[in-house]
Amino acid sequence: MFADRVLSGMRPTGAMHLGHYHGVLKNWARLQEEHPCLFFVADWHALTTHYEETQRISADGVDMVIDWLASGVDPNKATIFIQSRVPQHAELFLLLAMATPLGWLERVPTYKDQQQKLSDRDLSTYGFLGYPLMQAADILVYRSTLVPVGEDQVPHIEMTREIARRFNHVFGAEPDFEAKAKAAARKLGGDAKRFEELRTQYQQEGNTEALMRARSIVNAAAQLGVEDRERLFGYSEGAHRVILPEPAALLTKVSRMPGLDGQRMAKSYKNTIALREEPESVTKKIRTMPTDPARVRRTDPGEPERCPVWPLHQVYSDEPTQQWVQTGCHTAGIGCLECKQPVIDAIVRELAPMRERVQRFLDQPALVQDIVADGCDKARAMAEETMHEVRAAMGLVPAR
Ligand code: TRP
Ligand code: SF4
Repeated sequence: MFADRVLSGMRPTGAMHLGHYHGVLKNWARLQEEHPCLFFVADWHALTTHYEETQRISADGVDMVIDWLASGVDPNKATIFIQSRVPQHAELFLLLAMATPLGWLERVPTYKDQQQKLSDRDLSTYGFLGYPLMQAADILVYRSTLVPVGEDQVPHIEMTREIARRFNHVFGAEPDFEAKAKAAARKLGGDAKRFEELRTQYQQEGNTEALMRARSIVNAAAQLGVEDRERLFGYSEGAHRVILPEPAALLTKVSRMPGLDGQRMAKSYKNTIALREEPESVTKKIRTMPTDPARVRRTDPGEPERCPVWPLHQVYSDEPTQQWVQTGCHTAGIGCLECKQPVIDAIVRELAPMRERVQRFLDQPALVQDIVADGCDKARAMAEETMHEVRAAMGLVPAR
């Protein structure tokens, strides 16, 4: 049950660019080959900072999903859905809120940071303060264990772990836990003894390797019911059931995709190349990029380190081409347009299959709607399973 499950979300920002592709989407497409994955449009999150600008939320979400599909995120492998269509996120958010200290939310670094940085926005709302808790609910409602995020999101994952730990501690306690856990352990049959040994190794020596092995024994035991599983997960590390497992951040190694001006590629810098950019437009954008200001004339030598085209060669060009750039630039042996051509070719080549995939979805918008509807159904079913456990643990419904 707690086998690895990957979850990540993105605010609906509309069409994606190469920065999204190299920084996030390529990674998602790889992860879907390795684990069950859930990827969602975090439309409620958009409201936490932009509640008065809602006209484009839905359309931007669809555009974004189209570009996820263009990037190779595959609906047959990953579950693609929209947050607001899975009300269980909101229910868990509300229930978790009951036991979440205000101080935990006020201490999240992005809280004060963003209030200062986005001083033109109204961020003194309950929704904005609660947004990391909503993120915790996004993650925990699927009992996700791996969350691919950027560095800036790590404090949110840390807080999610604390929320889960506290939940399990408060609501996973049972008066006769020990006896029930021992009974559950006996159901492991031939693995029962090994499980006990590993549990002891973890509890006495803090051997986390042993904890992992104990967990995989529990994971592999198909004969166990949900509650026995939770007891055994809890039993291997403490004295309560683990209803909500603690997730880990999967840090994507920072790929700083350079933009057209040498800064990191970002919509707000207006230096992007969209995944749906036409070859003519890619060509034009690269050809008009600034270069080393020292190369006023074709005969002036230049320095790639001072040129925003060079970081693109570092992303796209092989070693010999990079050598050709270095030498050609230093000696004025090549012109800047000549130098840019391999980058243009590489980007056009990279985008070609994406533009091809996108065309189907632009021609038949119903296709995307179907993919999303199907993903929402699957997500709701998974979330509902967790919510049943959560409601029962909190005494809102009888245990199954
Ligand atoms: N907060 C994330 C961001 O702004 C988006 C997000 C919302 C998310 N819920 C999530 C990411 C859950 C990972 C897991 O980028
Ligand atoms: Fe930049 Fe290439 Fe021109 Fe050198 S030759 S200044 S690296 S574009």
